[in-house]
Amino acid sequence: MGDHQETGWKSVAEIGGSISRPADVPSAIRARRATKQFKPDPLPPGALDTLIELTTAAPSSFNIQDWRIVVVQDPAQKAALAAAAYNQPQITTAPVSFVFAADAKAWSAQHLEPIFAEARKRGAWPDRVIEYYTNAIPASQEALGAAKQREYAVKDAMLAAMCLMLAAASIGLDSAPMNGWVEDEVKKVIGAGDDPSIAIATVVSVGFGAGGLGDPGRLPREHTVFVDRLR
Ligand SMILES: Cc1cc2nc3c(=O)[nH]c(=O)nc-3n(C[C@H](O)[C@H](O)[C@H](O)COP(=O)(O)O)c2cc1C
Repeated sequence: MGDHQETGWKSVAEIGGSISRPADVPSAIRARRATKQFKPDPLPPGALDTLIELTTAAPSSFNIQDWRIVVVQDPAQKAALAAAAYNQPQITTAPVSFVFAADAKAWSAQHLEPIFAEARKRGAWPDRVIEYYTNAIPASQEALGAAKQREYAVKDAMLAAMCLMLAAASIGLDSAPMNGWVEDEVKKVIGAGDDPSIAIATVVSVGFGAGGLGDPGRLPREHTVFVDRLR
């Protein structure tokens, strides 16, 4: 991660490879930059597990966790993924890239069963809630229709991708989100073939950055933030 002077927090390297002192959320948000190129260094020990844990802690509609995250590290898979993404250097240079696929049919009974079981075990969802969800989730999703089902699944996957980027920043790693890929090609690479229920939300590469474009800044708030009404 470029310059730590401003935020005052330390990179993984600076704290001796330990990831026990993560940056706070505001610092991680401010420090994150989209990286274009990564160093060949692997992730520090334990980092991948931490990233996966924090990524999959993201919220999702009805907690259906409809992201399907493919962690690409194998050199041949990396090369294939890069080819599906216009050979963007983020993928060719990063030690790991996460493909955020979204399952637009993740609300079927077979997918809901383990979600209900876990929430019941934890005492989070009482039986009456599970009973309600058993009907309400499929009913609401069916009413959405195919295009919105896909959109809803992609929304959830994007939230998980943002969690990944902030988790990476919090432990001194850089990330690169990407839209620049050919969906059908990425689906083939991850083994989803032409399954119409699988959409690709984004691809995020993670590692130690070796340069990007710097902070492009943000528009003044009056362009993007409104009080009570847009118009
Ligand atoms: C959904 C999404 C898709 C993006 N796709 C690409 C991409 O394909 N290639 C690329 O070089 N940068 C890509 N970017 C990076 C943006 O250009 C970058 O986030 C933006 O310029 C703001 O810079 P910052 O992330 O450092 O604040 C993408 C960013 C987002 C959020």
